[in-house]
Amino acid sequence: MELASGDVAIVTGGASGLGRAAATALHAAGAAVVLVDLPSSDGAATAEQLGADVRFVATDVTDPDGVAEAVAQAAELGRLRVAVNCAGVGWASRILTREGPHDLELFRTVVAVNLVGTFNVLRLAAAAIAEQDPVAGERGVIVNTASIAAFDGQVGQAAYAASKGGVAALTLPAARDLARHQIRVVTIAPGTFDTPMLAGVPDETRDALASEIPHPQRLGDPAEYGLLVRQVVEQPYLNGEVVRLDGALRMSPR
Ligand SMILES: NC(=O)c1ccc[n+]([C@@H]2O[C@H](COP(=O)([O-])OP(=O)(O)OC[C@H]3O[C@@H](n4cnc5c(N)ncnc54)[C@H](O)[C@@H]3O)[C@@H](O)[C@H]2O)c1
Repeated sequence: MELASGDVAIVTGGASGLGRAAATALHAAGAAVVLVDLPSSDGAATAEQLGADVRFVATDVTDPDGVAEAVAQAAELGRLRVAVNCAGVGWASRILTREGPHDLELFRTVVAVNLVGTFNVLRLAAAAIAEQDPVAGERGVIVNTASIAAFDGQVGQAAYAASKGGVAALTLPAARDLARHQIRVVTIAPGTFDTPMLAGVPDETRDALASEIPHPQRLGDPAEYGLLVRQVVEQPYLNGEVVRLDGALRMSPR
């Protein structure tokens, strides 16, 4: 769908990394934007930098009331057409460690943020998008963010891979459910991108990560993720699919 003046996108995790890049790309394509991120994030400053038609709602994506507030703010800006799920955490732990078995709360939290949070935004955004008038046969698009860890999870990624596998798996049933409302659902599975999630990683490790990527042999640029979000929105026949964006990377066990 071509974004028009008065169309609005909600982008979770929009204060940083891939979410910020998606918000920037959709804003450049003409959409007003509601950034959803934690109160501790740079959301307010990011919204100010992006423009007067960008708002920040400080909430956890697992909070139904907080996400409903973001949808209400979107309605004040115009017609909600797009929701992009980028909020996520990448905490890692082996299943058996010297300190004992994998912490169960850690597993629960990763699944809660990455999978339950994604579904919370998807369901509330879908309800609002379904109220819009269709344009050229569609009402809007929901873009989720999984990871190639959904398919090639590495050592220490049991929780993360399970959460992202859930996001990948819900893509087709969500697209089927929402087809009668003319809403598409597409999931992007990024490889290794140069975002603040990797900020603490030493240069040597970043070089080693990049050397495993066949072509282009470098980390992904968040702007390339933003470009794909825009392309997914604009491509009317892409639906119910998980698209890898990874330079042909297949992750090794560790
Ligand atoms: N960077 C990569 O290489 C990569 C690869 C594959 C998948 N991903 C996925 O892409 C998404 C974005 O990652 P990124 O690299 O931009 O990370 P990032 O850490 O730069 O940004 C994530 C954002 O999500 C927000 N967030 C975290 N928990 C939240 C919650 N409960 N409620 C609301 N906001 C929350 C954070 O505050 C942050 O602003 C994540 O889902 C991540 O798993 C990233």
